[in-house]
Amino acid sequence: MTHTDPRPPLAGRTALVTGGSRGVGAAIARRLAADGAVVAVNYRRDADAAERTVGEIGAAGGTARAYRAPVDDPDAVLAMLDAVRADLGPVDLLVSNAGTASRGQRIADTEDAEYLRLLRVHVLGPLTVLRALLPQLRAAPRADVVVISSTILDGLSAGGAPYSMAKAALEAAARTLAIEEREHGVRVNIVAPGLVATDMGERLVAATSGTTIGRLDEVYPFGRVARPEDVAGVVAFLASSDASYLTAQRIRVDGGGPPRR
Ligand SMILES: NC(=O)c1ccc[n+]([C@@H]2O[C@H](COP(=O)([O-])OP(=O)(O)OC[C@H]3O[C@@H](n4cnc5c(N)ncnc54)[C@H](OP(=O)(O)O)[C@@H]3O)[C@@H](O)[C@H]2O)c1
Repeated sequence: MTHTDPRPPLAGRTALVTGGSRGVGAAIARRLAADGAVVAVNYRRDADAAERTVGEIGAAGGTARAYRAPVDDPDAVLAMLDAVRADLGPVDLLVSNAGTASRGQRIADTEDAEYLRLLRVHVLGPLTVLRALLPQLRAAPRADVVVISSTILDGLSAGGAPYSMAKAALEAAARTLAIEEREHGVRVNIVAPGLVATDMGERLVAATSGTTIGRLDEVYPFGRVARPEDVAGVVAFLASSDASYLTAQRIRVDGGGPPRR
């Protein structure tokens, strides 16, 4: 691939970003669109946020549409994928980002339903999306799956088992998929952020340290907690021609490790 190509790096690509309406997913959707991809912005229930993100992309000269489907609802997922294909054509870039936090309880106090809720959103839902999309991904000249995990797996702490277990299972699935789909030209990589300044990040910080992300900036690497755009840039790189020989990788976006205490 030549660096003198005047087209944007993702021109001709069609991306689906799950949980693309807010936070990390919205930044990914904006960045992929800025890089030339047509973007399907998936969300669960906040239609205003999804339309805001689509509007920002359009105002910046990009192309995007919003699609409501909880990833843990297989019927809704399949209907969404039909609509995306009819509206935007086959998807060749899946960013599996939709996620939710667990309730912060210890294993001693956690019922099966909480594990199942997290596994459905972080693992089984993404696998439903993926299974249905694989024929489109395999048929594309270049196809990528990027899953958004977490550095929580690098430093487990009390109260996070349902979330950590779900992310661990997601990573195991992604690594296996990378091996299985290499022969079909599908790259599969994992991006693992540390704390990111989003609604989820703010809730986590409030629950665990009773403060706000703004007050944590000074102790974090490079003087700030990661912003959604920090994650989006890495996703855009993984989807670009510069990363076409990368698969089965896990990239941490955490400034090199935990903050100073
Ligand atoms: N923030 C952090 O500190 C951090 C750190 C490491 C990893 N992560 C991971 O990064 C990803 C994005 O997190 P975030 O901080 O951006 O979260 P967020 O601010 O809470 O945004 C979550 C996004 O996911 C969507 N979503 C939630 N459940 C969904 C479902 N069942 N089906 C479809 N969409 C769903 C939401 O849509 P609605 O608004 O419509 O519900 C929203 O667009 C998650 O996988 C998270 O685990 C976050």
